[in-house]
Amino acid sequence: LDNGLALTPTMGWLHWERFMCNIDCDTDPHNCISEKLYMEMADVMVKDGWKEAGYEYVCIDDCWPSMARDSQGRLQADPKRFPGGIKKLADYMHSKGLKLGIYADVGTNTCAGYPGSLGHYDIDAKTFAEWGVDLLKFDGCYMPKWTLLAEGYINMSRALNNTGRSILYSCEWPLYEWQFQQPNYTAIQQTCNHWRNYADVFDSWNSVTGILDWTADHQSLIVPVAGPGGWNDPDMLVIGNFGLSRDQQQTQMALWVIMAAPLLMSNDLRDIDPTSQDLLQNRHLISISQDPLGKQGNRTAKVNGFEVWQRPLSGGRLALAVINRQEIGGPRSFPLTLALLPSWRCCNLQCNVTQILPQYQEMGVHSLFSKLQVLVNPTGTALLVVSPVKGKPYTRPQAKKWF
Ligand code: GLA
Ligand code: GLA
Repeated sequence: LDNGLALTPTMGWLHWERFMCNIDCDTDPHNCISEKLYMEMADVMVKDGWKEAGYEYVCIDDCWPSMARDSQGRLQADPKRFPGGIKKLADYMHSKGLKLGIYADVGTNTCAGYPGSLGHYDIDAKTFAEWGVDLLKFDGCYMPKWTLLAEGYINMSRALNNTGRSILYSCEWPLYEWQFQQPNYTAIQQTCNHWRNYADVFDSWNSVTGILDWTADHQSLIVPVAGPGGWNDPDMLVIGNFGLSRDQQQTQMALWVIMAAPLLMSNDLRDIDPTSQDLLQNRHLISISQDPLGKQGNRTAKVNGFEVWQRPLSGGRLALAVINRQEIGGPRSFPLTLALLPSWRCCNLQCNVTQILPQYQEMGVHSLFSKLQVLVNPTGTALLVVSPVKGKPYTRPQAKKWF
């Protein structure tokens, strides 16, 4: 969507995977969906380097509103859990240099059964704008006629545009349309700043690999449409929760970065393992995510229980991920033979190779003929950046001339 937003993938925090629809503030005040949760997350984001690393949007998901609209037909936040209202919360975020995201639904109800926006797109867009909201996640449950899904998403896009406020528009249009037909990705890219294609992420390796497999299976359709202003959204980062091992967390981060995915964490930043925090704040990874070329990567090889993924970067550079998909045994080495790497064109000359994961390591200058290997743990990923060495064309060793 050409609205000047999401020129690089969105970074922030979104409550759903970790906090779901926990509305029981009496017994669980620390974790329930309430203004306190977002304010505390914002405080931590400023205090612990998240904002500085680039995480900017603090996003509300389902279960924030009252069951009834107000007398003027406007959505209202649950008064018990959001006593200050959404405007106060938006002001709070802005005072900290952060942004506020909110959630609504294209149909009659949200997925958790709260009021949907069908028939109220204009008034809801206007309400969000008046509150000072900066992002809308628009879900796709309870659409009485699926044939109206596209129209609904397009109408809400227009309604947001008509408010005159810059509101990043995050859609779930293709996810819901896939149940019936192949979505029109050109239309989606013109309507939304990012879009969910596939099932909700869970806190498990199985869920992460399911998303990667779906993405690779559909890459010829979905990768070409991604770019500044419009991104495929493989759903939240679940790093820092309970279900992924250290290697699996590295795989999620590496591949979300290769996929030029929005980096929306769903975890508890108030209490996160330092290893997970370092991974999420790794500046080398974030700079790949936010690369100005804005091209999504894809899977380029699948061999011997390994997958190779590549993302072209600015300056003729390339990010390269090698996932060890074998879930048995120990670390295995993968030879970066160029047969597997058709786009490693920069190394017709010479390339500087830097390993970012599993740990930072400068691997030196290599050529087409180098024997380079990476060692990858089961379910882990090696992530490398390959940069052409300027002014040093590689010349093949030649037989000595004797005359
Ligand atoms: C759907 C969405 C999720 C989340 C829930 C909330 O399942 O795909 O991301 O927003 O609804 O109910
Ligand atoms: C996939 C991608 C292409 C290219 C090839 C290389 O098909 O869609 O862009 O990278 O892999 O094998």
